Amino acid sequence: MRKFVALSIAAGMLVSAGSAFASPEMLKKYNCTACHANDKKLVGPSYKDVAAKYKADGGAAEKLAKKIKAGGSGVWGPIPMPPHPQVSDADALALAKYVMTVK
Ligand code: HEC
Repeated sequence: MRKFVALSIAAGMLVSAGSAFASPEMLKKYNCTACHANDKKLVGPSYKDVAAKYKADGGAAEKLAKKIKAGGSGVWGPIPMPPHPQVSDADALALAKYVMTVK
């Protein structure tokens, strides 16, 4: 019984830790795909372009995570990105890090 409890706690931890790894599924879950694609501009810039723009910027993921949560405009054009308050800080950072890996 003890063992079973320990195992289910471990499994639960794995599941919650899993959300820190962003993936294309997470982009779909938060509906980012409605405005962004990896390699072409939709309403927002392609992730490939975003990654290229901030390649040399070591703090880019943190900055982009804030922008994902708060929204904003003026970097890529006049169209604003709406805020996404439903995205947790951890998920926003994971999404930003994922975007930075798109080539
Ligand atoms: C309604 C359309 C829309 C949705 C939904 C959307 N975006 Fe955006 N996104 C934009 C637009 C438009 C811009 C360009 C804003 C600008 O020029 O500053 C942008 C910019 C960005 C940038 C670059 C920011 C910068 O300062 O260079 C990132 C990264 C990004 N979006 C990620 C995401 C992620 C992750 C999600 C899902 C949680 C998401 N976006 C959802 C429209 C959207």
